[in-house]
Amino acid sequence: MGVDIAIDLGTSNTRIYIAGKGKLLDEPSVVTINLDNDDIIAVGSDSYKMMGRTSERLSTMEPISGGVISDFYLVENMIKIQFGKARIGKIVKPRVVACIPGDITDVEKRAVVNSILSIGVRNVSLIEASKAAAIGAGLDIRSAHGRLIMDIGGGTTDIAVLSLGDISVSRSMKIGGNSFDEEIIKYVRRKYNLVIGKVTAQKAKFEIGAVVKPDEEKKYTVKGRNTVTGLPQAVEITNTEVYEELREVALTITAQVQDVLEEAPPELVSDIYKDGIVLTGGGSLLYGLDKLISEQVKIDVHIADNPSDCVINGCGFALKYIGQEEIDENGSVNPLSMPY
Ligand SMILES: Nc1ncnc2c1ncn2[C@@H]1O[C@H](COP(=O)(O)OP(=O)(O)OP(=O)(O)O)[C@@H](O)[C@H]1O
Ligand SMILES: [Mg+2]
Repeated sequence: MGVDIAIDLGTSNTRIYIAGKGKLLDEPSVVTINLDNDDIIAVGSDSYKMMGRTSERLSTMEPISGGVISDFYLVENMIKIQFGKARIGKIVKPRVVACIPGDITDVEKRAVVNSILSIGVRNVSLIEASKAAAIGAGLDIRSAHGRLIMDIGGGTTDIAVLSLGDISVSRSMKIGGNSFDEEIIKYVRRKYNLVIGKVTAQKAKFEIGAVVKPDEEKKYTVKGRNTVTGLPQAVEITNTEVYEELREVALTITAQVQDVLEEAPPELVSDIYKDGIVLTGGGSLLYGLDKLISEQVKIDVHIADNPSDCVINGCGFALKYIGQEEIDENGSVNPLSMPY
């Protein structure tokens, strides 16, 4: 038996898991290229350090957007290099489980499969991000019991009601943690005529981002370029001022949870009321997001342990389902697609 591998090609982070070992790689999904000849200069963490800091000749690109591949060439090369880093180039023809957002076209699905096949694997089975997230959060998704899981990544949010290994109702949105960074960029520009970069906006979100009214005021200094004078400038922003802006985005997410609950069959809704909603993904760490969702839908909300790793751990756990029957004797559906 060879060794199998799980891959999560996320909008923000690429994660690789090896059967029997666990997560071996976790790096930003970014690639720096030389624009003159398309040569790859750096990928992952090395490339992230250059983000917003490259010369005219180099560009740091994010080849996955809204959970789908937007630049096939870059993703293919990114995976190849990351495989080398994780020292798994030597594994002979592994079988792979990869996750995909819930709302993805056949063409987009094919792009994920082909980019992974290009590195010489035996086959690729796909799993929806919400199923992988639930498994990684420790939920038994194959039982006849309804669970509501929300995976809030960088570029996507997947909400799903799961039972018997399958999705009963779901929503997938191209809104995620990065949408909050974008709101901070827009706000600072509007209010202070200051243009700030994505990396700065994300740091500000980590420090002072909030979607419920903060208990105490916190300040954070952002540096950028003034659009009027063209000169560098530093501005102090507070959690109370960004909270109003970020809350709007968060409410568009909670509205979708409400829709999902309205569409879900009553027996499953009753299970969900009892157990509460489980949040995964890095985006779920934003201050107050769990509280806001709970207030809006009037159901308990729990953030899973180690939320950023739930999807990759769930993909890793699901490796054992490769080759198993599609529906077992209990009526539970295999969460993996047939291998490509
Ligand atoms: N402590 C934190 N507070 C707020 N946001 C956070 C925190 N940690 C991570 N994030 C956000 O989580 C997002 C990344 O989450 P994750 O790694 O789950 O995304 P991904 O799987 O790469 O993306 P996707 O699933 O959308 O394709 C980013 O927007 C990041 O800023
Ligand atoms: Mg993800």
